[in-house]
Amino acid sequence: MLAPMQGLTNRALRSIFIDWVRPDVVFTEFLRVRPGSKKALSSIDKLEASCRSSSVPLVVQLIGKDPEALEAAAETAQDVGAEHININLGCPFGRMNSGSAGGALLKNNSKLPEILNKLRSTIQGSFSVKVRSGYDRSDQILELLQLFEDTGVDFLIIHPRTVVQKYEGSADHGVTARVVSNTRLPVIANGDIVCVEDGQRVFEQTGAVGLMLGRGAISDPYLFERLRGNAPEIPSRRDRAAELQRYIGEVVERYKDIYCGDVQILNKTKAVLSQINDTDFRKEIKKLKRAKNIVRFADHLEKLGYS
Ligand SMILES: Cc1cc2nc3c(=O)[nH]c(=O)nc-3n(C[C@H](O)[C@H](O)[C@H](O)COP(=O)(O)O)c2cc1C
Repeated sequence: MLAPMQGLTNRALRSIFIDWVRPDVVFTEFLRVRPGSKKALSSIDKLEASCRSSSVPLVVQLIGKDPEALEAAAETAQDVGAEHININLGCPFGRMNSGSAGGALLKNNSKLPEILNKLRSTIQGSFSVKVRSGYDRSDQILELLQLFEDTGVDFLIIHPRTVVQKYEGSADHGVTARVVSNTRLPVIANGDIVCVEDGQRVFEQTGAVGLMLGRGAISDPYLFERLRGNAPEIPSRRDRAAELQRYIGEVVERYKDIYCGDVQILNKTKAVLSQINDTDFRKEIKKLKRAKNIVRFADHLEKLGYS
């Protein structure tokens, strides 16, 4: 599965993955659900939620803390065509968290049963939960499994860091393995899978039914194909240069369809570049990130791999 990633997995970027490497499932970025808001979802969020592809299921992810507002947002998402809906119980950042949504729902989880019950009774397709291992204890997740089962959640995605940990340290897939052996729900493992070896190790270690790829996939969309054995595990420098050129060029092209003006297209493309961590191409990526306009950007992109 391609992970939900704010600022990244919009409909244009998702379409590249769908067309090129066909993840089994893709997710929207989180859609914010504000308490008491009359508009359950913004018009752009409705557009994202309605963007179904004929070949790859789309899961719409909601983030919020108010049971009624979340229920209304799920209804609205379904009205515009969403089939599968996920609730974010992991985001460790900013307003989402301080507003008791996302990962903060694990800190104070008194509303969680009501939220899950309301969503379950509203959602007609699959209902999934994306969750950290806990708020500040990595075994908290084990105490939540019964609730997830009792409220009719269809599957879980676990990113085994605590909310307090944010992105520090590493994902502890020993926790994922414990979750798998303590629930009858299908578990998808997420976190720090950036190469084939990582994916194989996590599969073997955890018994998870699937993997969700975030930063690793944004850095290298072909990771899906590498994991399936359809592309080299580790590409040569030359092949990677060609892949990067094609990928970044395509991001710019598809961003022209959804963003207005060169500045916005460039900034949004740079967010993708920020996830590309190849030591071999550090200099080239830096140049691309510094490009002040599309022409300079295209110029640097053309030279990628030749320096
Ligand atoms: C820039 C960024 C944006 C993210 N946005 C979301 C989001 O909208 N919803 C969500 O559930 N997780 C979000 N995440 C978390 C990822 O989906 C994923 O759980 C996390 O990055 C760990 O997986 P990875 O190591 O494969 O990246 C985000 C992560 C990053 C780095």
